[in-house]
Amino acid sequence: MATFPEYIAQNEERDGVRFSWNVWPSSRLEATRMVVPVAALFTLLKERPDLPPIQYEPVLCSRATCRAVLNPLCQVDYRAKLWACNFCYQRNQFPPSYAGISEVNQPAELLPQFSTIEYVVQRGPQMPLVFLYVVDTCMEDEDLQALKESLQMSLSLLPPTALVGLITFGRMVQVHELGCEGISKSYVFRGTKDLNAKQLQEMLGLTKPSAPQGREPELWSDCRFLQPVQKIDMNLTDLLGELQRDPWPVTQGKRPLRSLGVAMSIAVGLLECTFPNTGARIMTFIGGPATQGPGMVVGDELKTPIRSWHDIEKDNAKFMKKAIKHYESLANRASTNGHIIDIYACALDQTGLLEMKCCANYTGGYMVMADSFNTSLFKQTFQRVFTKDVQGSFKMAFAATLEVKEIGTGGTCQWKVCGLDPCTTLALYFEVVNQHNAPIPQGGRGAIQFVTQYQHSSGQRRIRVTTIARNWADAQTQIQSIAASFDQEAAAILMARLAVYRAETEEGPDVLRWLDRQLIRLCQKFGDYHKDDPNSFRFSETFSLYPQFMFHLRRSPFLQVFNNSPDESSYYRHQFNRQDLTQALIMIQPVLYAYSFNGPPEPVLLDSSSILPDRILLMDTFFQILIYHGETVAQWRKSGYQEMPEYENFRHLLQAPVDDAQELLHTRFPMPRYIDTEHGGSQARFLLSKVNPSQTHNNMYTWGQESGAPILTDDVSLQVFMDHLKKLAVSSAA
Ligand SMILES: *[C@@H]1O[C@H](CO)[C@@H](O)[C@H](O)[C@H]1NC(C)=O
Ligand SMILES: *[C@@H]1O[C@H](CO)[C@@H](O)[C@H](O)[C@H]1NC(C)=O
Ligand SMILES: *[C@@H]1O[C@H](CO)[C@@H](O)[C@H](O)[C@H]1NC(C)=O
Ligand SMILES: [Zn+2]
Repeated sequence: MATFPEYIAQNEERDGVRFSWNVWPSSRLEATRMVVPVAALFTLLKERPDLPPIQYEPVLCSRATCRAVLNPLCQVDYRAKLWACNFCYQRNQFPPSYAGISEVNQPAELLPQFSTIEYVVQRGPQMPLVFLYVVDTCMEDEDLQALKESLQMSLSLLPPTALVGLITFGRMVQVHELGCEGISKSYVFRGTKDLNAKQLQEMLGLTKPSAPQGREPELWSDCRFLQPVQKIDMNLTDLLGELQRDPWPVTQGKRPLRSLGVAMSIAVGLLECTFPNTGARIMTFIGGPATQGPGMVVGDELKTPIRSWHDIEKDNAKFMKKAIKHYESLANRASTNGHIIDIYACALDQTGLLEMKCCANYTGGYMVMADSFNTSLFKQTFQRVFTKDVQGSFKMAFAATLEVKEIGTGGTCQWKVCGLDPCTTLALYFEVVNQHNAPIPQGGRGAIQFVTQYQHSSGQRRIRVTTIARNWADAQTQIQSIAASFDQEAAAILMARLAVYRAETEEGPDVLRWLDRQLIRLCQKFGDYHKDDPNSFRFSETFSLYPQFMFHLRRSPFLQVFNNSPDESSYYRHQFNRQDLTQALIMIQPVLYAYSFNGPPEPVLLDSSSILPDRILLMDTFFQILIYHGETVAQWRKSGYQEMPEYENFRHLLQAPVDDAQELLHTRFPMPRYIDTEHGGSQARFLLSKVNPSQTHNNMYTWGQESGAPILTDDVSLQVFMDHLKKLAVSSAA
């Protein structure tokens, strides 16, 4: 029998699933008392190189409201060739092609090791992939030049049969015709007036290409605006090379007029009319905020800055609500059609990610933020979008939907996810519906099936099915076994996502108060203690790290917004909401490694006591990779010891964290920011803001009493936090 940590690791490896609880309470009331909901982090397309897709289609339960997929948990009567659905108990006949099955000749989907399995759909035409570039031209020459080069490079990474299109915008929006012989022709639109799909269809003369059976993808070229890469890559490369900065003059004290809102609307409309329900990516490259027309986030007067958190708080963000509405409606249209919207925002100031975030969110798109297009952060990140697997297929998936089937609920929930990659991780929160007086019978197992349908980058439609089961337990008599099944890492991320969700609509202090209350309740429920004796408080190993995760979460940029711009907060939260558990944990509680002459590099506590004069630290916050040289090391480095042959070991010491940092920089998506700093350096603040301030502020705490609920002030140490937590947890008054 595996231990729970082993069991959890195996399940994550095989199915991409991590549950907060791995034994489930059998009634609604008991589930509520667990404080942390029964919930799962699910990595839909977890990489499984050992899992070749099977070349037939799934067998479905015949009950129209169920349609669950045959899986290893189903009871099978091999003689009668029947199987019982484990979700609705319907008895189903196997299809004729399964006539030969027996106990010793089982199809793959019945074998326990195939709790996750992927099918290739055989019907329907091969669909092309569509990439529509939407390019801002209001930017400095250096940026535009770098962007053009990246876009040209990307053409060489696309499959030859993929369709590409180009829309550029500044004060006007231009839709470039790519099919014409030799002349570059484009349709020009004003950036101040939105167009609906019908108007666009008429103005551009669009028709939906017909898709006769067996038609080769490279023949999908009825649309003059979307052409196969192999046919037009030379011409498009030239066209990109000739792109100029927006020619409209920008007077002093003004921002350029940038028609981003209409450009995106035209992109969404163009694909809606031509390739509904086909995998497509709208890739938007933005050098600044939208300053006119629908979707504008700031006026063109430079003296009026773009909204800040303070403006938003004071309801003083003039364009925000209207802009959000514009982008939400675009995001909904794109999502309905299975289309992805990516946003690459590269500028020193904000560009309106706060208003546009729904575009990436609703469609599974990427959101990337950098200071300029001429940075390796942008260039490398963009290149990594086109990473291929060993079979030579993109790791990105298109037009995806997720369906979740739960035992007992007699129905399914379905979401459009559109874009997916092997990291995309969704959080799903489940409800135990049985009432307390009618709990689920003992000894039973609960089952959940995840059905992910998507368009593979090869053009195939695929269906990935993951079916999992967990035991039910009566929380009154078996609380120990439920407690032992707690996955504190998953629980921390699942609660953090709920907190971030709340933070989108509620005031910051309210969210912290809610989070504190949940933590205190969890301690009360699962801690060991004597009433009113804080020193007696003990948490079992299964829970021991959880309070610390909450401590760091409270300090994190996901909940503390005032040190960041609204765009930065949107960006951080977007990444947090889509990355897998390992990456999300790093975001909450960065990892710190120490390098010194006293031995090999080692992980050290994220604590100010880890900062020592003769150490180098490497901190990974997911968004930043920071190298910090302690005071003595920094002095040696300044004196140039690393250049002297007799101090070769010092040179090696300096080099080691740099090499490790490179490794992270080369693999992560999006590429992190790289910071090299030292004791007293201005960028050392990034380190200092993350470590537990164990050596300062210890006396400066207060538990606020606003609204009668406890809240911890922001800058206390973990020790103080824990002391107060224990006090509150054991208090008979709480
Ligand atoms: C981009 O930045 C690099 C290094 O900072 C610089 O050498 C190069 O000239 C820049 N590119 C353009 C197009 O200005
Ligand atoms: C590409 O450009 C060349 C030269 O301008 C032209 O002759 C050719 O027809 C163009 N090809 C396409 C597919 O537009
Ligand atoms: C999208 O928005 C919803 C609602 O605010 C949130 O729950 C979800 O986590 C977000 N997803 C991403 C990828 O940002
Ligand atoms: Zn069924």
